[in-house]
Amino acid sequence: MSADLLGSHTVSTLQTMDRRYHVTTFGCQMNVHDSERMQGMLESLGYRQAESRDEADLILFNTCSIRESADNRFIAHLGEAKRLKTEEPSRVVGVGGCWAQSVKEEVFQRFPFVDVAFGPGQIHKLAEFLTSESLTAQGFFEFESFSGHLPARREREFQAWLQISQGCNCRCSYCIVPSTRGREVSRDPTELISEVNALAADGVREVTLLGQNVNSYGRDLDKASRISFAELLARVDAVDGIDRIRYTSPHPKDMKEDVIRAHAELPALCEHIHLPLQSGSSKILKKMRRTYDRQRYMDRVALIREHIPDSAITTDIIVGFPGETEADFDETLEVVDEVGYDSAFTFVFSPRRETEAATLDEQVPHAVKRERMERLVALVQKRAAERSQRFVGREVEVLVEGQSRTDPTRLRGRTRHNKAVNFDGIATPGDLIDVGIESATSQTLSGVAAKPLARLFR
Ligand code: SAH
Ligand code: SF4
Ligand code: F3S
Repeated sequence: MSADLLGSHTVSTLQTMDRRYHVTTFGCQMNVHDSERMQGMLESLGYRQAESRDEADLILFNTCSIRESADNRFIAHLGEAKRLKTEEPSRVVGVGGCWAQSVKEEVFQRFPFVDVAFGPGQIHKLAEFLTSESLTAQGFFEFESFSGHLPARREREFQAWLQISQGCNCRCSYCIVPSTRGREVSRDPTELISEVNALAADGVREVTLLGQNVNSYGRDLDKASRISFAELLARVDAVDGIDRIRYTSPHPKDMKEDVIRAHAELPALCEHIHLPLQSGSSKILKKMRRTYDRQRYMDRVALIREHIPDSAITTDIIVGFPGETEADFDETLEVVDEVGYDSAFTFVFSPRRETEAATLDEQVPHAVKRERMERLVALVQKRAAERSQRFVGREVEVLVEGQSRTDPTRLRGRTRHNKAVNFDGIATPGDLIDVGIESATSQTLSGVAAKPLARLFR
C-alpha cells in the first residue's frame, strides 16, 4: 500500500510502531563488532534497520578517535544529523564509541542536538535510554561491562567476531585506546566457548577473536578459570563446525612460542599472523613504549617462519613519530624489506589528546611525514606483490563471501592467508572451495574454482 492511500492517523501510528535505526561505524573491528551488538539490541527492542539516515528515527554514530582524521571524518557526518534533527525534532541522535568516551560530556556542549552519548563499555545503556521516559540528554561513560550478553546482528551468517577481552594495559605513548577502553578485562573462557558453540550451531564457520592485545588474554582471570591465549585457541579449534579461526591484534611482546606452534598444530587456525611493528628503529620503539626492540621483533618473525614457513605476516606501521630521523626511518624500510609483509596498514603519526607522544619535542614536519609515507607504501606494495606470487599455480581453500566487487560475473572470497580472491566458478556464500590461482597482485589473487571431479581424480 502506498503512503498516500493511508490516512494521516494510520501513518502516525505506523511511525511509532515501526521505528527504524541507522548506524554509521568508524574505526576498528572492535567498533564493527560493538555496532553489531547495538544493532542486535535495537532489533530486540523492535527497531528495524533503515536504508539511509533520513529514513531513520534513531541516528547513531559509533565513533573512533585513533587519529585526527578519524575525528574529522565523523564530525563531517554530524552536519547531516543536525539538519535531520531540526527537520524532525522527535528523531533521536546518539553518539557512541571511542571519540564519545574521550570527550565525555563535552559531546553535548559541542553538539547540543545530540540526545545520548555513551562509551564502548556502556552500549547496553542505549536501550535503557530509549525505553525510559526521560527526554533530557544523557551521557554514559563508566567502564562497566562487556556487551557480550547482548544479541549481535552479524553481517554474514557464516562469519562472527568473538570479543575475548576489552581494554588495554599497554602504555604505547602515541595511543588513545587505553583511555577510551580502560584497563584490560578478559572474558571467562567457559562463557566464550559456549558463545562459540552457539555461533557454530547458528551456521558460523569462521570466527575472529578480538581484543586490543589478544595474546595477553587471561592474565587478569582468577586462578580457577585462568587459561592462556594458546589454550583458548585450542578450545575454540575443538568446537565442531568452526573451520577457520583468526585473531586480532596480538602484541609482539606477548607473542610466545605456544601461540606460534598453535598455528602449525590446530587445523582451524589460519596461516596468518598480524604482528604490529610500528617502527623498525629500536630508539623510536623505546620512545613509543612498545617494550620490544628491532632484534626481538625479528626473532618473533624468525620463529614464525620456522614453524609456519608459508604464513602470511601483516603489520601496522607509524611514520613520523616525534624524533624519527631519516636513519630511523631507513631502519623501518629495512625491516619491511627483510620481513616481506603480505600487507601493511601504514599511518602518519597523529598527536592525540592526553597522550605522551603529543607533548614530545621534535615533532616531524607534515611534508616530511608525507614524503616518508610515499616511500614506505611503495616498498610495502613491492614486497607484497612479490610475496603474492607464491600462490600462483597453487590450489588454495577459499571461503566464499559473494559477488566480486569489480566484476559481477565472478565471485569473491578469502584464503586462509587472508588474501582476497576473485574467481570464476559456481558457489554459494559460506562455501569452502578450492580455487586454482592464476595471477596475483599485491592485494588480490585471481583464479578459477577447481572442479570437484578434477579433485576426485587427483
Ligand atoms: N591494539 C592494536 C591496535 C591499535 S590501533 C595494536 O596494538 O596493534 C591500530 C593502529 O593504529 C596501531 O597499531 C597504530 O599503528 C595506529 N595508531 C595508533 N595510534 C596512532 C596515532 N596516534 N597516530 C598514528 N597511528 C596510530
Ligand atoms: Fe594502543 Fe598499544 Fe594498547 Fe595497541 S597495545 S591499543 S597500540 S596502547
Ligand atoms: Fe578502535 Fe578507534 Fe577505538 S581504532 S579501539 S574505535 S579509537
